[in-house]
Amino acid sequence: MTAARSALSLKIVSECSVTKARCCKMTLPHHTVDTPVFMPVGTQGTLKGITPEQLEELDCQIMLGNTYHLGHRPGPKLINEIGGLHNFMQWKRCLLTDSGGFQMVSLVKLSEMTEEGVKFVSPHDNSVMMLTPEKSIEIQNDIGADIIMQLDDVVSSTTTGSRVVEAMHRSVRWLDRCIKAHKRPDKQNLFGIVQGGLDAELRTECAKEMVKRDVPGFAIGGLSGGEEKYHLWRMVTLSTDILPKHKPRYLMGVGFAVDLVVCVALGCDMFDCVYPTRTARFGRALVRSGQLQLKNQRYVADMRPIDADCKCLTCRNYTRAFLHSIVTHESVSCSLVSLHNIAFQMKLMSDIRQSIREDRFPQFIRDFFLEMYPTKK
Ligand code: GUN
Ligand code: ZN
Repeated sequence: MTAARSALSLKIVSECSVTKARCCKMTLPHHTVDTPVFMPVGTQGTLKGITPEQLEELDCQIMLGNTYHLGHRPGPKLINEIGGLHNFMQWKRCLLTDSGGFQMVSLVKLSEMTEEGVKFVSPHDNSVMMLTPEKSIEIQNDIGADIIMQLDDVVSSTTTGSRVVEAMHRSVRWLDRCIKAHKRPDKQNLFGIVQGGLDAELRTECAKEMVKRDVPGFAIGGLSGGEEKYHLWRMVTLSTDILPKHKPRYLMGVGFAVDLVVCVALGCDMFDCVYPTRTARFGRALVRSGQLQLKNQRYVADMRPIDADCKCLTCRNYTRAFLHSIVTHESVSCSLVSLHNIAFQMKLMSDIRQSIREDRFPQFIRDFFLEMYPTKK
């Protein structure tokens, strides 16, 4: 069998001798990405309150755009005419777009899944629209991201029974339709998404079916919905046992520091989540021991930065007391805290990578957990 065309190469640089963690160089059309990597999420093409220049300064190598939002404004055809989203938003590094179905189901209340696609009432003009696998790929081909995602049938991770079985099989059928519809496999990499709820057999079957399709990479989906950690870890473990080592594995919608550390150990390479920027909008700053709630009165005269060891613009220039005083002025504090929170995620991933390269990742995990959950003496 000849390998399918792709625009991705994955080179394993180091492997942990105890866990399934690995460090790779993932070369994509716009940049080479060091993995394990956290990918910040932009909705209208940019992150709220952060410019692409600032993201580059934070050493962000790949970010998410959003098919659902971009498909509406400015519209995929216009983005295509001006040379794709990279040109439109002046972002020179890698982009990944999600297929839109997940956003549709989680953001748009009036949606319905059929074999043809996701039917939904547009929140913009109340018209009835249909997102099919073919339409999602057409939009993502116009947007031009380095990695594009299949349309999948997503059910909440706590759903059980026949609906989960149907969604898993449909996701496999939709991957085949996406592969057929994909017009630029030499420039954009289509990833399949493993579904199957919290059912070990369904996950296993789905992962095996996905692997047969020989796409350039695979994601693990349907697992960011508040399920018990035990289930998250179990589903991730059995998926990464089946997904091939020579292709990237992307755990979707997961971004809490604890989950990043554990799921890297379980063999995941890529992560995305709105959490660091969303939590910043509530005035919460991420630190190794957890979060600082900057609205809290205890910071009113605290002249320290959020984190004395952090090199971000916010920590170099502003005190907790200042951030406390502006935290209700949404846009400025949102930008400053978002900037720090993204810097926090980037530093965490860079520390994880360094510890894998130096073959001391197990010790990193111990130190990390002791800092987040100190034992009382
Ligand atoms: N984002 C978080 N989880 C998922 C998922 O299961 N599917 C898709 N398409 N996007 C996601
Ligand atoms: Zn900082």
